[in-house]
Amino acid sequence: MIAPSILSADFARLADEAAAVAGPGGGAEGGGADWLHVDVMDAHFVPNLTLGLPVVESLRAATDIPLDCHLMIEDPDRWAIGYAEAGAANVTVHVEAAHEPEALARNLRAAGALAGLSIKPGTPLEPYVELLRHYDTLLVMSVEPGFGGQSFIADVLEKVRTARRLVDTGHLTLLVEIDGGINADTIEAAAEAGVDCFVAGSAVYGAADPGRAVAALRESVRRTSPHRWAPGVAGSGASG
Ligand code: DX5
Ligand code: ZN
Repeated sequence: MIAPSILSADFARLADEAAAVAGPGGGAEGGGADWLHVDVMDAHFVPNLTLGLPVVESLRAATDIPLDCHLMIEDPDRWAIGYAEAGAANVTVHVEAAHEPEALARNLRAAGALAGLSIKPGTPLEPYVELLRHYDTLLVMSVEPGFGGQSFIADVLEKVRTARRLVDTGHLTLLVEIDGGINADTIEAAAEAGVDCFVAGSAVYGAADPGRAVAALRESVRRTSPHRWAPGVAGSGASG
């Protein structure tokens, strides 16, 4: 799965920017993005401020691409549910910010979204393996959250490999997502480590043709891991 991040898009033209990655046939089956990654930042959990619920609600009405909301905010226990109720396909909260992450996952699922848990580059995976039984997606950050266009931190691939093993051996059922510094030079290493879903901001929206950039990233993944797909996850399809 490829999830372009609109953090690197033109915020005054979000509907057009979503359409630019929807693919010729619309949606993932038509060759476009599987998810649209939406970075919500509150200037407290991270030193940057982006957008919030009203923008997500409008975006939801402006595109058919399922929204992948990445909440880099304090107190997600209070705010995350609104994004699920707004129709986001996946709502990801940071384990470093959540107070009661198990209840939070339950509430997100009850509101009809997939529940995602994100870990920063310096946060270990092991303490959260049991918690992850309650989640549908794991977002491994491969840059410090806060800004697009940073360099990929390859050390985090060890956590991806661990997560991949836990999924492949049936200990966890979740989609492994990576976010930060994904481009033509880094995506193959991430695919080899076992990533299911690749977030890419500047590599997509910094390209002359964002739609082509999505197709090119997908092609790199296909070459590296031709048999991988995400079973049973809404919006993923069986072809990605
Ligand atoms: C960073 C965000 C990312 C960002 C990635 O905090 O979570 O989603 O958009 O941008 P690139 O792909 O440029 O590293
Ligand atoms: Zn993100």
